[in-house]
Amino acid sequence: MKEMWKKTIVPAVSVIAICILFLAGHSMQSVKHVELEGMITVAHRGASGFAPENTQAAFQKGLELGADFLECDVQLTKDNELILIHDLHVDRTTDGQGRVRDYTLEELKRLDAGTSFHPSFAGETLITLDELLRDFYGKIGILIEVKNPAINKGIEEKIVELLEDYPDRKSIIVQSFDVNALKRIHELNKDIQLGVLINGSFIPMSTKYIDELASFATFINFNVTSLDKRTVDEIRKRDCKVLVWSKKDKRLIQKAILYGADGVITDFSRWPVDQEVYMEIE
Ligand code: G3P
Ligand code: CA
Repeated sequence: MKEMWKKTIVPAVSVIAICILFLAGHSMQSVKHVELEGMITVAHRGASGFAPENTQAAFQKGLELGADFLECDVQLTKDNELILIHDLHVDRTTDGQGRVRDYTLEELKRLDAGTSFHPSFAGETLITLDELLRDFYGKIGILIEVKNPAINKGIEEKIVELLEDYPDRKSIIVQSFDVNALKRIHELNKDIQLGVLINGSFIPMSTKYIDELASFATFINFNVTSLDKRTVDEIRKRDCKVLVWSKKDKRLIQKAILYGADGVITDFSRWPVDQEVYMEIE
């Protein structure tokens, strides 16, 4: 019995153990080395997982991390300047209170846009779209989201007027949830690359609607929760690209790759560097 144990059971158990270790190691490795080769990476509101969103610090970090594009949110000030801020109100991201539209640019510039993210960013200010382009155009792509055009009336004209000073069309994309704002920009300048942000309630999208969007947009972009393989295939058949965004959803990269998306928009700018950050958040 002792002999049999030595000759058959011990080697069999060892082989199984080696297989388990190999498989475990392999699957860990395949998670760690997710290939983003050829995928577009976009730093969402700048690298906003590392620095206060839509500030110079976040955009600089996105550049350093090697993102392909910096995403930013643009609105109008009381005196009709293009300011980068996500919310309709300044309360969440600055030390001010009230609606962005009730502040002049000079007043917005006096607000602290860093401390609410972390005290080490105290003194960080809001910046204009003009300042972003002056500092980053030519170094990295810029993905500009037009926010709330119904409130920020005339924002389309202001953006087009500014972008006409920046001739490399491939390195700039203007996106919005508001299809009418994008159509207006297309009317004003057909060379500006456009991206439609899809609201989850529009899923599934009819082929007719995809045709309509593809007639003026280069990108059709989704939140990871509403991404659907058939829709991605239909969009790509029409020579449009698909970007997928999420703030913290860990399925972002895997789903984007699995469904054949062209890129990801993330607060952490890159993968797999960011994977560890996601792990820490969990
Ligand atoms: O780029 C996609 C994303 O920015 C849209 O959502 O709310 O972060 O502006 P939100
Ligand atoms: Ca945005």
